[in-house]
Amino acid sequence: MAKKIVVTSGKGGVGKTTVTANLGVQLAKNGCRVIVCDLDFGLNNIDVVLGVENLATFDVVDAVEGRCRPKQALVRHPRYPTLYSLASNRISERYISPQAVRLILDSLSPQFDFILIDCPAGIDEGFHRAVACAEEALLVTTPHISAMRDAARVADMLKSYRLQRVGLVVNMVRGDLVRKGELLRPEEISETLHVPLACVVPEEDKIFLDNVADRYRAFRSLAEFYVCGKPNTEFRRKSFFGGLLCALRR
Ligand SMILES: Nc1ncnc2c1ncn2[C@@H]1O[C@H](COP(=O)(O)OP(=O)(O)O)[C@@H](O)[C@H]1O
Ligand SMILES: [Mg+2]
Repeated sequence: MAKKIVVTSGKGGVGKTTVTANLGVQLAKNGCRVIVCDLDFGLNNIDVVLGVENLATFDVVDAVEGRCRPKQALVRHPRYPTLYSLASNRISERYISPQAVRLILDSLSPQFDFILIDCPAGIDEGFHRAVACAEEALLVTTPHISAMRDAARVADMLKSYRLQRVGLVVNMVRGDLVRKGELLRPEEISETLHVPLACVVPEEDKIFLDNVADRYRAFRSLAEFYVCGKPNTEFRRKSFFGGLLCALRR
């Protein structure tokens, strides 16, 4: 059975889709069978980020409403053969229940190792639908105060779901600003939000050009965290030596 992980944040634009897509790619590269499921109805874009936007005939709503079988809505990634995309629908006004989506994901679950769910921004119906389908969550925030405030609200809301584990992804971290004390350290963010740190993703110029790429080491470590339970300590090591350098320079 697949482990279902929802990637959520509260605030939009903090990197949920980027994290979902890149984690999907890295898990597939580890040999896992993965579905990346877009539940951001209306503002869906994971197919674009994965570069499969022209390959889908059906989407998750077609499967829910019986126009296709769940498997027919999956698009196999041309580059990563164990990675599948389950596209979302542009129509946002129709009510799709969490139970209906969960039935579709449950029917696909036996043939997969992971189902990653890209959650919409906000804390309304779409959030509930996405989280109610999952067993675990990744909470994404940036080190900026507005994102952290929304993440705190979401962290609180996640407590009312029966999730097995919630991990924190701090995205768009600039090590130079952290070292200067201008941004909170990821560990401090984790302590403030009471959510254990799963991954720290540096701010990259090139994510704007290549949405998914092998060189993003943080996502490789995040995949290892799920495959073999190895936590991502890379950033901590860097910040330790960074801190040592700063102390020596003083
Ligand atoms: N670590 C990062 N460094 C630089 N740009 C990033 C990073 N993570 C995400 N982005 C960019 O930020 C924008 C918003 O990311 P996205 O994943 O779409 O956020 P969300 O799904 O939360 O709305 C995208 O243009 C994406 O390429
Ligand atoms: Mg998104």
